[in-house]
Amino acid sequence: MAPAPSPRLRPALLQWFDRHQRDLPWRRTSDPYAIWLSEIMLQQTQVSTVVPYWERFFERFPNVRALAAAPLDDVLGLWRGLGYYSRARLLHRAAQAVVSEHGGHFPPTAEELRALPGFGRYTAGAVASIAFEEEAPLVDGNVARVFSRWFAIEGPPGDKAREELLWRYAEACVKGERPGDWNQAVMELGATVCVKHAPLCLLCPVSAHCQARKEGREHALPPARRRAAPKEMRLYCAVTQKNGAVLLGRRENKGLFGGLWELPSTPVLPELSALLGTTKKPGASLGTVERVLTHRKLTLELYPLPAPKKLPRPSAPYAELKWQNVEALATLGISAAMQAALKVALPAHGKARR
Ligand code: ADE
Repeated sequence: MAPAPSPRLRPALLQWFDRHQRDLPWRRTSDPYAIWLSEIMLQQTQVSTVVPYWERFFERFPNVRALAAAPLDDVLGLWRGLGYYSRARLLHRAAQAVVSEHGGHFPPTAEELRALPGFGRYTAGAVASIAFEEEAPLVDGNVARVFSRWFAIEGPPGDKAREELLWRYAEACVKGERPGDWNQAVMELGATVCVKHAPLCLLCPVSAHCQARKEGREHALPPARRRAAPKEMRLYCAVTQKNGAVLLGRRENKGLFGGLWELPSTPVLPELSALLGTTKKPGASLGTVERVLTHRKLTLELYPLPAPKKLPRPSAPYAELKWQNVEALATLGISAAMQAALKVALPAHGKARR
C-alpha cells in the first residue's frame, strides 16, 4: 500500500471542489446510467465537447433500457463527431447486459461492474464511487498527472511500474468520506488547475502538500509520453452514385470504424471492383484525404466506379452495402475522416450543406 497523504489534503481539496467545481449536467444526479454515460464520453473527449452530446444522448435514451432497445446504428449516429466509436459499441452492449443480467439496474460495486462490456478499471471505479459512494479508486490522465506531482512519482505515462504505483496511491487516497467527490475533485484539479504545461500552482488549494512543487519540479513531472510514430494506412475508396444516392458500406461491428458507414474501401486497389461485384475498372483518382488518428496516419484515395447492375452480398469487412440518399449522409454514423472524403467525392453535396 502506498503511504497515506497528509490528513489536511482531503478536506482542503474537497472544500475547493465544493466551491469551484464546474456545473455539469451529470453532476446534478446520482443516476448511475447518467454518470456512466458521462464517464465514457469524457474518456477521450473534453468536457466542453461532451456536454451537448451528453444532453442529446440522454434526451434520446433517458435510461439504460431505452439504450439497450435501440438499434446500434442509431447509437453510432448520435455518437457521430465524438470519435473512438468502440466506446459507443461497448456502451450499447453493456446496456444490454445490464438489462439482461441485472434486471436493468447497475450493480453497485466496482468488482461487479468490471464484468460488464467496456468497464475497465477506470470506468468501474468512477461509477462505483460517484454513483454508489464505494471507496473505489480510479486513475485517468488527469489523476496520473496530479499524483505524479503530489507524490513526485517518476516515469513517463505508459510506464507499467508507474501505472501500478499510481493505482496504489489512488487506492490509499480514496478511503474516507465522500469517495465519489474525492475522485472527481482530483480529476477536476487536474483538468482546471494542475494542467499539463503551465500548472496554476498559485491557485492550487493543496500546493502546500505537493512534493514536485517543493522540489521545483512541477513542470518536469510527469515527463512527456513516448509515443510510437503513427502507422501509415492507405485505403482506396469507391465513389459510386446512382439517382442522387451514393453506395456506402456498413462495417462489421469490430475493429477500427466498426459499425460505421463509409465509401466501400480496400487496402488493395485491384480488389475495389470485386467489392462492388463489378468487373468495371475504377476511373482516374478524384483526390485524396489525409487524417492523423491516435495510432495511424490514414490516407483515403477516392476512385469513381460505375454502379453495378445488382448489389453483391456484402463481404468482409462489410456487414451491409446500401444506396444511401445524399441527405442521409448528414446523420448516419460516419467517421470524421470519411466525412472529409465524402466532401471531396461529392462536392455538390458539400456545397449544398454549407
Ligand atoms: N473527467 C472524467 N470524469 C470526470 C469527472 N467526473 N469529474 C471531473 N473530471 C472528469
